[in-house]
Amino acid sequence: MTQPGTRTQSPVEAPDRPGVVPVRAAALRSAVRWGVAHGLPRVAVRRSARAGDLQSLLLSDPAVWREPYDLHERVRAAGPLVRGRFSWVSASHAVAREVLGSADFGMGGFDDVSSPRVRRVLDWAGRGAPVHPIEPPSMLAVDGPDHTRYRKLVSRVFTPRSVEGLRGQVQATADGLLDDLARAPEPVVDVVRPFAGRLPVTVICDLLGVPVEGRSEVREFEAGLAMSLEAVAPWRQFRTVEGALRGFDDWVGRHLEHLRRAPGEDLLSRLVTATEEGQRLTERELRATAGLLVAAGFETTVNLLGSAVHLLLANPDQLQVLRAEPDLWPQAVEEVLRLESPVQIVGRQALRDTAVAGQEVRAGSRVVLLLGAANRDPAVFEDPARFDVRRENVREHLAFSAGRHFCLGVALARLEGEVGLRSLFERFPGMRAEPGARRTSTRVLRGWEHLPVRLR
Ligand code: HEM
Repeated sequence: MTQPGTRTQSPVEAPDRPGVVPVRAAALRSAVRWGVAHGLPRVAVRRSARAGDLQSLLLSDPAVWREPYDLHERVRAAGPLVRGRFSWVSASHAVAREVLGSADFGMGGFDDVSSPRVRRVLDWAGRGAPVHPIEPPSMLAVDGPDHTRYRKLVSRVFTPRSVEGLRGQVQATADGLLDDLARAPEPVVDVVRPFAGRLPVTVICDLLGVPVEGRSEVREFEAGLAMSLEAVAPWRQFRTVEGALRGFDDWVGRHLEHLRRAPGEDLLSRLVTATEEGQRLTERELRATAGLLVAAGFETTVNLLGSAVHLLLANPDQLQVLRAEPDLWPQAVEEVLRLESPVQIVGRQALRDTAVAGQEVRAGSRVVLLLGAANRDPAVFEDPARFDVRRENVREHLAFSAGRHFCLGVALARLEGEVGLRSLFERFPGMRAEPGARRTSTRVLRGWEHLPVRLR
């Protein structure tokens, strides 16, 4: 198996022999892709951060990624919609709702903003790029009829009923992982990788129809796919991501071939044959959808579970409430999603000149919506920084976004959260936090990388 990040050779490394030209061209294209999408923005963002631009600080300062809430409050204090160096930024719940639900905004992309010359360079650089979970034809990157077609097809096989049908499977997976944890010889274990990290990927493998013996291969790509959601990545991370995307793409191509010959009951098998008014997803669209399911459904849910464990151990009174009233578990999951939103940031682009919160927003401008801040907006949530599993209006949170791109995996995420957390805390009622917890070092996704606990 090719290691992620080792597939593209730099022009300097390429040996002088037949085949060198395509290798060099591929490496150059990859470098241009990184330069345009990450490298140049990184330089510009760092410069503006030094000048005090709030948005740039959010993007460039690792201390802010770990604890973004003070900065969110500075954005909120500056107004509902603030002009940043590169785009508009908002910490407001009302603005996030409005923009996400508005027909004046779309996902946008370089095509809409760049000059014809830049677009030609990007078209050239894009040749040979791996299928990316958040670039077209991924449903998360497109609007209009294409988005409607993908979304209709996927929602037809990903219904709340079919997800509820997975409850037994999710419970069995959680129980098996907890059995493994209980057998751990050491009294202190990390709850993230062996539990919070394993539950979602096992569930996604079930959805994709991956047999048990093929799952370790998918797990090789999961971190790279999750990382693909990050903005302004350094070169090494970009190469790791592209390597993982290529590896996943090769794997998924073979897997789709297998499912066509021997379809199962899983979601991907049904997508292979599902049609909408006679139209099917093409091979590339199927690959993008499978990649999106892993990228969007994996690390987000890991982070939900990790943040929930951290919050509940830090707030034993709230855990006590759940012990007395276990029916509140689904609501506790929503409160974690609100208070420590696993997806902190989403963006949109104005499709035409429009106005938001009394400000003129020109066609082509980007608006960055700080979901983590919108979910702590005091105009909507009373005492917003308090963790309260009984919070009545908790479902008003925007952790799953809103509007046309509202999370398609919402029912599954809720199910995994409820079943996973309840089972964990019931199995180990005396669980306690231990020192050494470490947050993830990502901007868009918020969670825990390492969360040591004493089980008994
Ligand atoms: C706690 C867990 C999760 C959170 C917080 C979450 C959050 C989100 C958010 C914020 C978006 C919209 C992004 C935007 O508006 O730009 C989204 C979209 C999406 N999510 Fe989730 N998600 C979670 C779990 C899942 C799971 C388990 C799956 C499936 C296996 C999934 C599949 C998707 C898909 C397919 C989309 C794209 C929908 C579209 O573009 O129409 N998500 N998710």
